Amino acid sequence: MSLNRLDKIIALNCNVSRKEARELVKSGKVKVNGNIVLRSEELVDSSADSINVNGFEFASKNHIVIMMNKPDGVITATKDDNKKTVIDLIPDNLMRRSLFPCGRLDKNTEGLLIITDDGELCHRIVSPSHHVYKTYIATLTRPLDSKAIASLENGVVLSDGTQCLPARINYYKDDYGYCCKIKIREGKYHQVKRMFLAVGNHVDKLKRTAIGALKLDESLKPGECREMTRDEIELLFGEDG
Ligand code: URA
Repeated sequence: MSLNRLDKIIALNCNVSRKEARELVKSGKVKVNGNIVLRSEELVDSSADSINVNGFEFASKNHIVIMMNKPDGVITATKDDNKKTVIDLIPDNLMRRSLFPCGRLDKNTEGLLIITDDGELCHRIVSPSHHVYKTYIATLTRPLDSKAIASLENGVVLSDGTQCLPARINYYKDDYGYCCKIKIREGKYHQVKRMFLAVGNHVDKLKRTAIGALKLDESLKPGECREMTRDEIELLFGEDG
């Protein structure tokens, strides 16, 4: 049995925010096991209780959501005749036929990748309109000057004329060299690498460290993965730190 707050379950299953879920409950539009429930804090077992929102009954979909520390050299795809894919790395106990990677990391990009069989959840993570920031650490060839930082923060224009949304930038130098923590909420093709190219720099190494408020579990070695908890799924839609 897995008890969770009613507003949390509704938000996760109905593609609405926690606030919208609370409003639905408050307005009497939610029934649990046939009875109207007006308290969002009510603890419900979504795998056993029937939940009806606005006349629509949803059963717990029993989807699986997996966190992977994607290694360098593996492609983000479900299937490939020649190259190893992230799905090839899933151990038997987590394997499902309909698993797919949520968003895309380049072959040489490492770090946090979500793999799931839940299409709705994936849409909420990748769609820019849902404002889920993805955090990357880019190791750069050259220092980043203030003009380049301002340009990235204001929304850089890529070489093909594509306008990017404003990024959040934290530039620093450490033992690894010139590093930049960059947060973006879009997922255009090679976006981070192209953003740095547009300001005259080059990404030598790229790692995704967080999605929303969910950080990569650094105890996962590259190539390892594990199922995520409900709380971790919720963090995907939390304010990034
Ligand atoms: N941006 C890139 O350039 N590559 C990635 O893998 C992810 C974001």
